[in-house]
Amino acid sequence: MGDVLFYNTHLHITTWVIGIILFFVVLNFVKKSNEKAAKITQMVLRLFYIFILVTGALLWFNNYMGTGGGTFTESVVKSVAGIWLIGAMEMVIGFTKKGKSTFAGWLQFALAIILVLALGFGRLPLGILP
Ligand code: HEM
Repeated sequence: MGDVLFYNTHLHITTWVIGIILFFVVLNFVKKSNEKAAKITQMVLRLFYIFILVTGALLWFNNYMGTGGGTFTESVVKSVAGIWLIGAMEMVIGFTKKGKSTFAGWLQFALAIILVLALGFGRLPLGILP
């Protein structure tokens, strides 16, 4: 079980770090109106959303399903905030493409990433294993 958890948190961390970097790469291509590069990198980013979701869901099912109490609640809030962060990244990219104000998207990005990092590293027990 220890081995499974080890690979699991590292996979999750790897996927969301790459995802967040890709988000900024896509945003940069969109801003520079490099439509072809933006389209291709956004496809890769969306593939990484799936990797993030799957590795996060695996962590959740392996460690929290059927448990209860405060840590369980925090794990649910952490997971929902992770999904929210993905939504916020899509919003920022979408608003940028349409030339709209990105404020609402960035505000959500900021709130969601604070929640996710505070709960993921500050509160929940797995952290970076071992
Ligand atoms: C971009 C989105 C996300 C980011 C930045 C993020 C970030 C993190 C961080 C920093 C941790 C703590 C380190 C670790 O144990 O791996 C973590 C753990 C975790 N994440 Fe995510 N995550 C994201 C998406 C998700 C999603 C979508 C889910 C659920 C479907 C999820 C579920 C979990 C769970 C269950 C843990 C284990 C918490 C623990 O016990 O330590 N995450 N995530």
